Amino acid sequence: MRLAHRTGQPLFCLFAKSMQDEYFVHESSYVDDGAVIGSGTKIWHFCHIQSGARIGKNCSLGQNVNVSGAAVIGDGVRIQNNVSIYDGVVLEDNVFCGPSCVFTNVTTPRAHFPVHGVFSYTRVRAGASLGANCTVVCGHTIGRSALIAAGAVVTHDVPDYALMAGVPARRIGWVCECGQRLGEDLKCSCCGREYSLDQEGRTLAQKDCPSDGIQHQSQGGSVG
Ligand SMILES: CC(C)(COP(=O)(O)OP(=O)(O)OC[C@H]1O[C@@H](n2cnc3c(N)ncnc32)[C@H](O)[C@@H]1OP(=O)(O)O)[C@@H](O)C(=O)NCCC(=O)NCCS
Ligand SMILES: [Zn+2]
Repeated sequence: MRLAHRTGQPLFCLFAKSMQDEYFVHESSYVDDGAVIGSGTKIWHFCHIQSGARIGKNCSLGQNVNVSGAAVIGDGVRIQNNVSIYDGVVLEDNVFCGPSCVFTNVTTPRAHFPVHGVFSYTRVRAGASLGANCTVVCGHTIGRSALIAAGAVVTHDVPDYALMAGVPARRIGWVCECGQRLGEDLKCSCCGREYSLDQEGRTLAQKDCPSDGIQHQSQGGSVG
């Protein structure tokens, strides 16, 4: 049996088809038929995973998390309490969603003119973190290992490694892949990783990292 709860049939907490693809669902949560959940993932209290949702391996979903049917979540993603991952939201590997952070998927919503499946997409690239209670206005990409401050409102694409704060969010610095803020020398005082800026000073890349600043740690992504 793969599901702990099927909609309308609260049962007990249980998991998997075999030991190999085992995952945990708390008995208070619902997983609809047709959701795909990777091994090692833990789904805690009062969550709802809708049919069609794809969740990778070794994720953690805190209390009161909703995952819609056209949402995609990679491996190693941590979602804190009270977060809804709507249709059109893609979270790549090792993304961190702080408590009560907010995604959106319609730019100009109207109750009496519903859009029925026409969404603006949001992609959060590998290793990025979203602070508590921030809001991501849809239609944007948050770069690899970027860090969004608590309470910020993201209204534009965010470069890799950018530290963004405020309403609307502005870049106030750069952060290392490990989460440490970078000083002017762009060398992490914590882990020693080094970075360089492009000529316009707009994008940061990790030195000695041929194509993808995060791949050497996460070994590629599971999210297409
Ligand atoms: C943005 C952040 C990373 C900055 O941390 P920091 O480098 O230690 O920065 P400081 O606390 O020294 O603050 C530096 C400046 O930024 C401001 N600042 C800090 N956090 C801010 C935020 N969320 N929004 C707006 N401004 C912020 C401070 O007021 C300070 O401004 P000042 O220089 O005018 O006094 C941190 O405050 C933050 O928001 N982290 C996310 C925490 C979170 O949500 N965790 C979720 C898991 S529990
Ligand atoms: Zn570092």
